[in-house]
Amino acid sequence: MSDSSNLIELCAKADVAEGEVIKVETGDLELAVYCVGGRHYVTDNLCTHGPGELSEGYLDGHVIECDFHQGQFDIRDGSVVAPPCILKLKTYKVVPHDDAVVIEAPQD
Ligand code: FES
Repeated sequence: MSDSSNLIELCAKADVAEGEVIKVETGDLELAVYCVGGRHYVTDNLCTHGPGELSEGYLDGHVIECDFHQGQFDIRDGSVVAPPCILKLKTYKVVPHDDAVVIEAPQD
């Protein structure tokens, strides 16, 4: 279990409706926060292919489609599902919490 100083609270769980994605900015991070099946997932908001923001994309199950060139990623592990994206999307570990979406702070 991580020290609480390594944790970042992003938003209330209720801020993200089922099947939706929102943008959350904190410090230097610009993140996309998703809710699928009652579970929350967090990735970088910026597409690895270009200037598309994934929080503006189309979420279908665990797949987010960038609205810029329709590239797709799996939000569970950031893997590329459809081109033109090649580079994996960065994902963040969500820490269990009753009311809030909390992640472990990235180490890099
Ligand atoms: S910017 Fe996202 S697919 Fe091109």
